[in-house]
Amino acid sequence: MARLLVVHHSPSLALESMLAAVTEGASNEHIEGVEVISSAALSTGAASVLEADGIILGTPANLGYMSGALKHFFDTIYNPCLDQTAGRPFGVFVHGNSDTNGALLSIEKVTTGLNWRLVTPPVCSLGQVDDQVLGSCWELGAVLAATLMS
Ligand SMILES: Cc1cc2nc3c(=O)[nH]c(=O)nc-3n(C[C@H](O)[C@H](O)[C@H](O)COP(=O)(O)O)c2cc1C
Repeated sequence: MARLLVVHHSPSLALESMLAAVTEGASNEHIEGVEVISSAALSTGAASVLEADGIILGTPANLGYMSGALKHFFDTIYNPCLDQTAGRPFGVFVHGNSDTNGALLSIEKVTTGLNWRLVTPPVCSLGQVDDQVLGSCWELGAVLAATLMS
């Protein structure tokens, strides 16, 4: 069975609701043969990434960057995963209250270094999380899971 790892830092209801929509989309009725594993960024190690066939990253924007928790995740897994995870399909969701560009850019830099493959546009949300954002998150999860099916 393929594995989709959702690595997230979800310190607020906004992030929690986006995460829930992502995992719901990834587990929808049309997906077969894909196990969805949700894992807090602060406690996700390299072994989980090495075992994953695809990855979704979720974070708040913090001080113009990804959250410290997601940065810690990358600091932990970067070297052990550098050679062995090249080409992994991945997706991203980011929430902020004013500007998510710096957070997204910081993730793009690290994932470019890892040579991961972005398979669907990032979902970036500012302020209140509405149904449109949740729908985009659902799609993000569904696309990543469908990618692993094929
Ligand atoms: C220390 C700190 C730094 C933050 N920096 C940013 C930022 O650079 N850009 C932004 O859009 N939001 C920023 N935020 C807002 C968070 O992204 C936001 O609180 C988080 O996504 C959760 O959303 P909520 O507060 O609406 O629940 C920051 C929040 C904190 C606590």
